[in-house]
Parts: sequence; C-alpha cells; structure tokens
Amino acid sequence: MKVRAAVFASGGGSNFQALLDHQEAEGAWEIVLLVSNRESAGALGRARAVGMTTEVVKTDGRVAADVARDTLSILAKYSVDLILLAGYLRLVPEAVVARYPQRILNIHPALLPAFGGAGMYGMNVHRAVIDSGKLESGATVHFVDEEYDRGSILAQQRVPVNLGDTPEELARRVLEVEHRLYSEAVDHLCKAILAERKPTLMTLPQEKR
Ligand code: GRF
Repeated sequence: MKVRAAVFASGGGSNFQALLDHQEAEGAWEIVLLVSNRESAGALGRARAVGMTTEVVKTDGRVAADVARDTLSILAKYSVDLILLAGYLRLVPEAVVARYPQRILNIHPALLPAFGGAGMYGMNVHRAVIDSGKLESGATVHFVDEEYDRGSILAQQRVPVNLGDTPEELARRVLEVEHRLYSEAVDHLCKAILAERKPTLMTLPQEKR
C-alpha cells in the first residue's frame, strides 16, 4: 500500500519535479495528481510531460467555500491521502485543512518560524534574510494549517549565508537543499502514516560552514 499524494503548485514546479524524481517505485508514497490555481503554471507542463493527471482549480476572485468544494471533490475523486504544497501561493481553504488534519505539508525557503507569513515568498524571503544580517538560512518542511507558514515543523536543514550573497545566489543554494529535503520529509511522514505512528521531527546531518 502507498500513500496517494497530490502536489499543489502555482509556479515553475522545480520542487514538484524533484518529488517526482525521488519517488521510488517500491516507496511509501506516490504522486497521483498535480493541482494548480494557474493555467500558466510551469508545473502543469512538467506533469503533462510525464502523463500525470492535472487539475486546475482557480482561486482568484472566487469565495473560499467554492474553492474548497471544488478542491475536496477533486481530492475525493483521486482518493488523495496527502497534499504536498510546492510553491502554492494561496491559502488552503479551512474546509480542506479540516478534512486533511496533519496530512498537508509545505516547503518554505527559510528557517521557520522566522521569515514566514503573508508576503514572505520568492525573493522577498531571501532579501529579508540577507538584510537581517543572519549568518544562516535554510529550508523548512512543515504541516499546514489555516495560516501561512505556521503549522508544526517536520524537517529543517540549514544553509549558510555567504558574505556578499545576493538574494538570487542564496535562493539557488536553498533550492538545492529543498529538492532533497522535501522528498526525504515526505518519505519520513509516509512511513509513519503506513505504520500508524505519529511522525517525529526529522533530524538531518547539518551542512558544515
Ligand atoms: C520554493 O522556494 C518553495 O520553498 C516555495 O516556493 C518555491 C517554489 O519553487 N514555497 P518551485 O516552483 O518548486 O521551483
């Protein structure tokens, strides 16, 4: 038996691609669906290229209850057990969070709880880290609740901030870590789900400075 995962993405989808590349034939989980809120999302093209089922659920200008209804009916249609946000730039509607307790993950390109929340996405995050003078940043995989970037943390990995780093340089190094960390964290969670265990915080060897 495998945990059936849906990835939600609004953008290019490099994390979606990394998840696809790391899911193992004999592993604990399988991506069965890609959902986007944007017709033009690069992630949709990546999914179609491998013949994966895709669905677009538009969010702009719609009330949350309608988005929730459409999302829940799609998730039920494909028997989805786990939702993986990968660059999904919208709040997950409350009804979806309520239906999937501890079954929605997100990846964030900083060490939460710092540098998270509304507006903290893309280069804004890396610019804020550099401006703060912090010597390290990183990536965080966390459970999703009704607020941006607030749910409990499942896995974190540090990335040093180098002297003179631009936001783009830091983003590139953090993204490399994200691409490994997300699938490892999903694996960790899905093994716990299948064993009917509560997942523990995942510990990882940290990069040396
Ligand atoms: C990543 O940095 C992720 O941490 C954040 O959004 C970005 C998505 O990038 N939530 P991609 O679309 O997966 O390339």
